[in-house]
Amino acid sequence: MSEPLDIFGRPVEDRRLLVCVGPCCDREGRASANLAALQRLLIDRGLERVGIGVASCVRRHCLGNCGTEPLAQVLPGDVWHRGLTAERLLWIYQRLVVRNPPATATARRENGARAGARKRSSRDARKRPASE
Ligand code: FES
Repeated sequence: MSEPLDIFGRPVEDRRLLVCVGPCCDREGRASANLAALQRLLIDRGLERVGIGVASCVRRHCLGNCGTEPLAQVLPGDVWHRGLTAERLLWIYQRLVVRNPPATATARRENGARAGARKRSSRDARKRPASE
């Protein structure tokens, strides 16, 4: 069996944006159009080499989570994305796959807990009387 390749024919890295072009996601041709447009955006903006050795963008034929609109998945971390356009795929790839380590469930919980703690402390500060 041959090694999987990214959308530019390069070997696939562990950090990936999986873009589904399976029968459900591409029912109206939007998934294939989004992926083709993403490739054009990366080339037109000179970004096709972004992520080499770090991350990959990969075409997949059904991610096993069929719905009514195109899907993409960020791995590792198992984060799903909907409402996709080529620009949105580019943003996800650059910001969530190439630049940032994937968020794990644990990291998301910790970040949520910290954000909640910050909100509580600033809310508490607003409630204090000015004389304190
Ligand atoms: S066709 Fe995209 S998840 Fe199944």
